Amino acid sequence: MSRNQPVIQALIQVLADTYAMMTKTQHHHWNVEGPRFKELHDQFQLLYEAHFLQVDELAERIRALGGYPPGTLQEFAQISSVRESPGLRGEDAMVRDLVDGYEALIADLRRLWKATDEHGDPVTQGIAESLILAHEKTVWMLRSMLKA
Ligand SMILES: [Fe+2]
Repeated sequence: MSRNQPVIQALIQVLADTYAMMTKTQHHHWNVEGPRFKELHDQFQLLYEAHFLQVDELAERIRALGGYPPGTLQEFAQISSVRESPGLRGEDAMVRDLVDGYEALIADLRRLWKATDEHGDPVTQGIAESLILAHEKTVWMLRSMLKA
């Protein structure tokens, strides 16, 4: 077993979660309806476009550490801790669903950060930090949309 194995495993978890968030944000981009359609449709697009870049960065970091990232929908669905919500409708329900998804992803990012700390990998730690920073900001924005 490679010395990097715990970090690789934690990266695979975050990759699967991020992939799940990419499909979730795109699903909501397509299916959102209501008075805030334009705002939410555009906001969800910004999110899935960012996730598209993030999954590539995560997968290639796994390769750089000597691991092999999964790349099938079946594997991502099995591994991911983000709950899927097929057929979800409603502006607020979608925003709430994204908050729940980002919280699961952030929890796994914190586990990744801990693994990088224990195994002396400051480069992957930097990736974890930048993703936590971005997702916590997104959660703040999404929560603000729900405030009456
Ligand atoms: Fe679109």
